[in-house]
Order: sequence, then structure tokens, then C-alpha cells
Amino acid sequence: MTPYRKQRLGTCYYPEHWPQERWRTDAAMMVEAGLSAVRIGEFAWSRLEPEPGQYDFGWLDEAFDVLSEAGLSIVLGTPTATPPKWLVDTMPDMVAIDAQGRPRGFGSRRHYCFSHAGYRAECARIAEALARRYGDHPALEAWQIDNEYGCHDTVLSYSQAARAGFRDWLAQKYQSPQALNRAWGNVFWSMEYRSFEEVELPNLTVTEPNPAHVMDFRRYSSDQVISFNRLQADIIRRHSPGRPVSHNFMGSETGFDHYAVSDDLDIVTWDSYPIGFLDRDMTDETAKQRYIGVGDPDLQAFHHDLYRACGQVRNGPDEGRWWVMEQQPGPVNWAPYNPAPTPGAVRLWAWEAFAAGAELVSYFRWRQPSFGQEQMHEALLLPNGEPNEGWHVCRQLARDLADLDAAAAPARADVALVFDYESAWAWDIQPQGADFSHLDMALRFYRALRRAGVSVDVVPPTPEAVQGRRLVILPALFAGSHALADTLAKSDARVLIGPRTGSKTDDFRIHTDLPPGPFGALAGITVTRVESRPPFAPVALADGTRFQGWREFVRIAAETVRVELESADGHPAWLVNGRVHYLAGRPDETLAVNVVRHLLDDAGLTAHALHRDVRIRDNGELRYVFNYGPETVDVSDLVEDHAIALGGAALEPRGVLVLRRRR
Ligand code: GAL
Repeated sequence: MTPYRKQRLGTCYYPEHWPQERWRTDAAMMVEAGLSAVRIGEFAWSRLEPEPGQYDFGWLDEAFDVLSEAGLSIVLGTPTATPPKWLVDTMPDMVAIDAQGRPRGFGSRRHYCFSHAGYRAECARIAEALARRYGDHPALEAWQIDNEYGCHDTVLSYSQAARAGFRDWLAQKYQSPQALNRAWGNVFWSMEYRSFEEVELPNLTVTEPNPAHVMDFRRYSSDQVISFNRLQADIIRRHSPGRPVSHNFMGSETGFDHYAVSDDLDIVTWDSYPIGFLDRDMTDETAKQRYIGVGDPDLQAFHHDLYRACGQVRNGPDEGRWWVMEQQPGPVNWAPYNPAPTPGAVRLWAWEAFAAGAELVSYFRWRQPSFGQEQMHEALLLPNGEPNEGWHVCRQLARDLADLDAAAAPARADVALVFDYESAWAWDIQPQGADFSHLDMALRFYRALRRAGVSVDVVPPTPEAVQGRRLVILPALFAGSHALADTLAKSDARVLIGPRTGSKTDDFRIHTDLPPGPFGALAGITVTRVESRPPFAPVALADGTRFQGWREFVRIAAETVRVELESADGHPAWLVNGRVHYLAGRPDETLAVNVVRHLLDDAGLTAHALHRDVRIRDNGELRYVFNYGPETVDVSDLVEDHAIALGGAALEPRGVLVLRRRR
């Protein structure tokens, strides 16, 4: 039985930025806005330990008192994303080294190398000191370890510590340099090594390094993030038993394996900045204009679905938990341009997260600072301490949440979209066509699924994750295992295999039995040639849709295979082998929608014909309908047998309609 978890609001607070006399007012105003959780502490190392070994917990004790007396629960961050200057000066080699060999300097944040043993020991020390002091505080709701691993491009470090660690990691993996040479194919360009001590990091090479070398370095670097996080998680669990451990992941970050880090977390959280992301991640200029003040209608939802899955890695689907730890309430400061949210957008984002099963939506940040790097980042309060727009939105949201008595009740979706970090690294390392990426491929299918109004779980490429689904999509999966292919073969799910899936072995070699490797028997085809094409030269298909940037030439290897769609120049583009479909190129939007709808139909799943700005999602007995667009849309056809719980069927711009299923 899934525990009943009420959906709530919170905020990110930096008591160390404000005079102590103000804290009670802040706490009272938080409660008045309907917030119930506050995250504090995650950047406060220089105040927690102003001198080496001399802790100053007095102010944090006071902050705990003030906040808890107001009835707020506290999420305490470990401050390891911001090591203080004195610490860096005691071991200057703890900073990360960039790919050009330059140290990443002090003066912002995340200036550390995950491989540095001395820095890890310092992190363990400060985490233990905090866990001992606050671990059983009654107001302590959860821990957050560090802050946004990977933010500011900080996973990879080309330091001495990383080099030593990488050599050791390789020795453990391959056991002998000969095995490494074989796996990487080092006979190519005379790259053979006689010992692990000869292996360098894959930067500063004359031209591209061996992709197998880079892939192992990416794996090694991801493992460093995992063990860095685990070190603190273990310490916290020892000294603060029963208090959940979390980390706030960053959107569109693929530098390390988030599923693997989540194995050490009880609550997975992520930081949602829809308008900031729009400029960075959306490529379609028309859509960008349409959604400038509300963000990409699908990108946040994709992350909600991904982090819900991550939240279930450690504790399983019934006990799995996820939050939005940081939600943008106004313009941010870090995108090329920083427009204001359109009226209604801040409210819509919160409901979109709750609809996906988030337990908490927490705003970054409480009060806009007048100093420092983020002085242009809006907050729930103005720099002078008065309520800003976001504060009023919270107040209304809190009332609506109470009226709805909303709780997190995510159910396992019939549709699973596989998203895989190794695949993200692989196509980063070897895009072959300039704009090819795993995230982009996953999003193409995700958008098509959202347009059809179906609920999706974004899942890792494991047999367990795809079991019992009715539709499974593998977009450009780098290697893929035989175990995954076998599970799919034995299932009765519809399967959509995207281009490049199964095209390499784990060692970054082309499969000797040719792509799609382990999925060849399922799809009944073999890929004999691939081409990448610039944006001005898409591949026209017979039905007027297109492959953009990538296409494959396939040989049909089984009599059961039929060609559903050909390219205008007469090559198979979409092939069907029973319940398994293979798409031999990167689909444009219309093709992705067509393929997905065809598969949903086949799988007996209801696909809605939604207005282009409308999205829907079910959470337990509640159905949410969102209008991301600038015009009112009549959505009465979506009400079906539900009762209206919030809003109306004439859905205003950026409006939210909540429906309750009639029993
Ligand atoms: C996040 C980060 C916060 C803050 C915020 C600004 O990436 O975790 O500390 O910098 O961005 O939008």
C-alpha cells in the first residue's frame, strides 16, 4: 500500500543572508503563505566552520528553533558544494581541472574534484558534525547532500587525483593491460599500453581520443559522483537514523548516472526552471516564442517522470518519493535572456509537478538577495522583504491543495520510455552528426506520447523496468543488454526501437553481427549503413514526414517483417515485425506522433487528440488538464466521467483544470 503523502509547498531559505532579528518575521510569512517545509544550510560552510575545526553552530541552532517553533519542517543541506577559501588553501589540488588543463578557481561554487581523497575526508567530517548535531532534531524532515551534482559542468576533472583513480579503476575492471588494449582496440594508431600506469586521461590529445577510452573515463567519473554521495549518505544514516536522505538533481544534466546515485537516496528531488530551460533546451523557434513565459510544455513533465523513477530505485514503487526542491517563481538570472513568467505559469508548474506525483514543490528562493551572484534572481519576497508575486501564488496554491486534499498517488504507467545515461555519454562522445543526442531522441518520443495524453514512466534500461508494460520505447540506446532484449522478446508489449539502438557493444565497438545487436532478432532487421545529414537536407519519406539528421539503411532479415513506410528514395524507414517496430531514422514531430499513435492503438491504449497547447495527466483519482497556450481552450471532451474539482472546462491561458474520477 502506498502511504498517504499529502502534497505540500516549501521554500529554500538562507538565514545566514539575513539579520537574525528578521528570521521570526520570515518564518511567520512562510506559514502565512501556506509553506510547510524549508531547506537551509547547503551553501553555509564558511559560517558553519569559520576557522578550520572551529564550528559555529549557534546561528543554525537558532534558525532551527525559529523555524520549528513556527511549525515548519527543515531539510538540512550538507554544504559540500561550497568549500570555504581556507579549506581550498590547505589543499589547492582539491579543485577540478578542466579539459584544457586549467584549475577551476575559487570564487563561485562547485570548485572541487570528486576524485580528491583529501576533499572527501573533509566532506565526511562536516557531514558527520552536522548529522551528530541535528540528526535527531524533531523538526528535521530530511537531509540534502551537496547541491546539484554536475551543475556548471563539474563531473569531469582532469586532475592528478582523477588520473590516479582512473588507472586504479581500469586495473580493477580489466585486470591486465592486454585486456584493456583488446577491449579498447588500442592496436589502432599504436595506442597500446604496457601497464595501467601508462594510461593518461583523454584530454589534450591532438585529435579525438579513442571513444572507448573516453567512455570508460565517463563511467569512472560517474562512479566518483556515486561514491562521493554514498560517503555522506552512509554517515548521515549512521547518525540520523530514520531521516530520509535526498539530493537535488539538475534538469537536463546527463554527466553521471542519476539512477545509480538514487540508489543511495530515500527522496529524489530535482530543480525546475521552466523559462531558463526553454531558451537552453528547446530548438523549435516557433514553439519557443509561443511558450516564452511558461516554458516547454513537455520538458518539465519529462523530468518529473524521470525523477519519479529515480525516487523508486532505492525504496521501490510503493515507498519511492520525489520532490521538486527548487521551483522558479519569477525571472532567473542565468539564461541568455530571462523573461518573466506569464500570469498563471507559476501556478501551472506546481500543479504539473503534483499531477506527476510530487509530494513537495519548494520555491527557490525565499527572498531575493541584494548582493552576490544571484541578486537578479527573483524570489517569493522582494529584496526589501515584502511579498512578491510568487508569495501570493503560494498562498492560493496552499488553499487549493487543502481543498483538494491532494496526495501523491503515482501509479505504474503502461508506457515505459527508456532513458539511459551511458547512451547519453556515448552519443556525446560520438554524435556522428553534430546535433545527435540521446536526450533529444528520448524527448522526441516523449513529446509525442504527451501529445497523445498518456502517462509515461521514464525508466532505466533494465529488464525489471520494462516488465509488465504495454508499450516500451528504446530511443537510440547505445548498447542494451541481451537480458533486456530477452525480456522484451518474452513479453507481449509493443516495442518501438529507435535508430542507433544496440549499435555498439559495451566496449564501444560496432557489434560484429551488426546493429541493432541484441535487438536484431526482435526487429528482424540488420543495419548496414548510417548517414547523418545537416538540418537543410532532411530525408523525405513517402508520407510527407521526414527523418531529420539521421537515417539508416537496413536489410530485412526475417520474412515476418513488413515495411510500414519508405523514404521517398525507396528505402525502408519504418519496419514492423509483429509487435516490434523499428524506426530507421530520427523522426520529425509529425512522424514521431504518427508512430506513437499507431503503437498506442495497437497496444489498446487510449490516445487523446489534444489541442496543441493542452496536456493531461492522471494522479490517483485526480485528472489534471493544463493549457500552456495563450488562448482559452474548451476541454469539455476530457471531462468524461469525472467531476470538476478545480477550474472550468473553458480552460483559460495557462489554466489548470482538476477533475476527480467519480467512483
Ligand atoms: C540552481 C541551484 C541554486 C540556484 C538556482 C538559481 O541550479 O541549485 O542554488 O543557483 O539554480 O536558479
